[in-house]
Amino acid sequence: MAKILVATDKPFAAVAVNGIREVVEGAGDTLVLLEKYGEKAKLLEAVKDVDALIIRSDVVDAEVLDAAKQLKIVVRAGAGYDNVDLAAATAHGVCVMNTPGQNSNAVAELAFGMMVMAVRNFYNGTSGTELKGKKLGIHAYGNVGRNVARIAKGFGMEIYAYDAFCPASAIEADGVKALVSAEELYATCDVVSLHIPATAETKQSIGYDLVGKMPKGGLLVNTARKEVINEPELIRLMEERTDLKYVTDIMPVATEEFATKFAGRYFSTPKKMGAQTAEANINAGIAAARQIEGFLKEGCEKYRVNK
Ligand code: 3PG
Repeated sequence: MAKILVATDKPFAAVAVNGIREVVEGAGDTLVLLEKYGEKAKLLEAVKDVDALIIRSDVVDAEVLDAAKQLKIVVRAGAGYDNVDLAAATAHGVCVMNTPGQNSNAVAELAFGMMVMAVRNFYNGTSGTELKGKKLGIHAYGNVGRNVARIAKGFGMEIYAYDAFCPASAIEADGVKALVSAEELYATCDVVSLHIPATAETKQSIGYDLVGKMPKGGLLVNTARKEVINEPELIRLMEERTDLKYVTDIMPVATEEFATKFAGRYFSTPKKMGAQTAEANINAGIAAARQIEGFLKEGCEKYRVNK
């Protein structure tokens, strides 16, 4: 009988935990729950005797892997796995997976919630603008980007996308104009929605030159990762370009500075909310539990992200 730990500092909805429990116990295994643990010490203690781990943005580094002597698999219930040290996991013989696509609609819907809030001047009573007829740039056309495109059609936006890896033909097949560079996307679009992962190549890549290409009144929406933003450069740009707005679901390191300097042009959620819906929690959490059972019982490695 395997022991499976759900370690979520930002907990899933209770209904999702029930669903995970059904999968795990239905397969004859045991579920342990560690929520809102705050300190890493509690995670280190909880992982000691578990065979499998379900996490969200919780950090799994070499120290956690050292403490988890029985661990065979970690599933990040979500898309981005930049919070897991993949090399250390491989060195410890631990399989790492994500659950691609399971929470992408939730993130895409939040991007539009934030867009509407920003173009309506954060509901301050003054006249804002509409999204209809505006040019939307989708920066990276993965699962979230595709959902953003689908929703943008309902808003009547002109939709553009740039993705370094997705073929233009796949983008165009969705009725979205594929652009050849990030520079062209930012220069073209009134609103840019970020959906790039945090990798060595993308970290700090969104800064002064790129965002500075946006037309007057440009809006940057970040539901991706804070690490992709070059914060000092974005601050310098927003000081010079008083027409630009920045809304983010991932609080910047310099949130105080953004909030003070750019009142009325900046907003951050207090805690990342993109995937915080019952539906996304159910989809991602249950997928994670099923992937773990498939791996433990049948050796299935679909969605493995480390070598
Ligand atoms: C993801 O990568 O799946 C999203 O950023 C959601 O992250 P969360 O599970 O920490 O909310």
